[in-house]
Amino acid sequence: MSFTFSGFHFYLKRDDLLHPQFSGNKARKFRYFLEHDFPGTQMLVGYGSAQANSLYSMAALAALKGWQLRFYVDHLPQWLQAAPAGNYQAALALGAEVIALPAQLRQGLGMGEYLQQQILPCLPGALFIPEGGRCQQAEYGVRQLAQEIGQWATGSGIKGLKVFLPSGTGTTALYLATYFYEQQADIEVLTCAVVGGDDYLQQQFAMLSQTAECYPTLLTPKKKYHFGKLYPEFYRIWQQLCHTGIAFELLYDPLGWLLLLDYKKRHPQQPVLYLHQGGLLGNASMLPRYRRKFGE
Ligand SMILES: Cc1ncc(COP(=O)(O)O)c(C=O)c1O
Repeated sequence: MSFTFSGFHFYLKRDDLLHPQFSGNKARKFRYFLEHDFPGTQMLVGYGSAQANSLYSMAALAALKGWQLRFYVDHLPQWLQAAPAGNYQAALALGAEVIALPAQLRQGLGMGEYLQQQILPCLPGALFIPEGGRCQQAEYGVRQLAQEIGQWATGSGIKGLKVFLPSGTGTTALYLATYFYEQQADIEVLTCAVVGGDDYLQQQFAMLSQTAECYPTLLTPKKKYHFGKLYPEFYRIWQQLCHTGIAFELLYDPLGWLLLLDYKKRHPQQPVLYLHQGGLLGNASMLPRYRRKFGE
């Protein structure tokens, strides 16, 4: 579909609407696990934040596969335990087990390392997915997404398309860009670092691929933003986006849209496709925080 925002025309890919429980970015990244058999696997093990979209998506994946989900968090806030909301609440409803494993109990190791060295050997039959789904298996589903975009662009006769999506681990952006690079498609992937800065994102790309020519192009904000912090300009652009009739999420999309509007001002003729990566359940905990801080 296409829509107009702030006076500019954008194409929009609604990955948020893929499936009621299993949509957006994680549906693409976890598709491999959904579509393949894992004989002997009864449990899925993951880690991240107790409010992460990945917690809910892994819970949905586990439920669809008939597995148990064990999700480790550094910290489980008291208020969230007292009044579960958003991704955490939905994951619990799907039977997820969320376990706090604070840094002082991890012998100086990062969560991922600790789980791999100390916990997983005691859990035979467990399948481990790194934080945010940053794994080689993610390429399988993201390639299908890239094929859909490529076919649509060719079918619509769109030349020089830019595909924009905000990045966390950069897994989705990297595998999209890799596909278009391999196909020599006239499509460029633009992204921005929402978690950490540009250097962090480049490091994430390098953990998945050594082929730097296929890395996505980064749009860099003029100001440094911290992941999960509340900024008035994020809330403002999110509210403006609501007026288009399409709901976006509050962690990744606001910075994405701020940078994309800035890009469009500089390249008004460039055809741009925004990838809506879902994650709307997270708004149930983000929106009350924004309202408390900045009002309605
Ligand atoms: C809504 C949304 N947008 C963007 C991202 C970032 O995706 P990636 O880690 O593949 O860069 C995520 C996390 O997976 C997400 O849930």
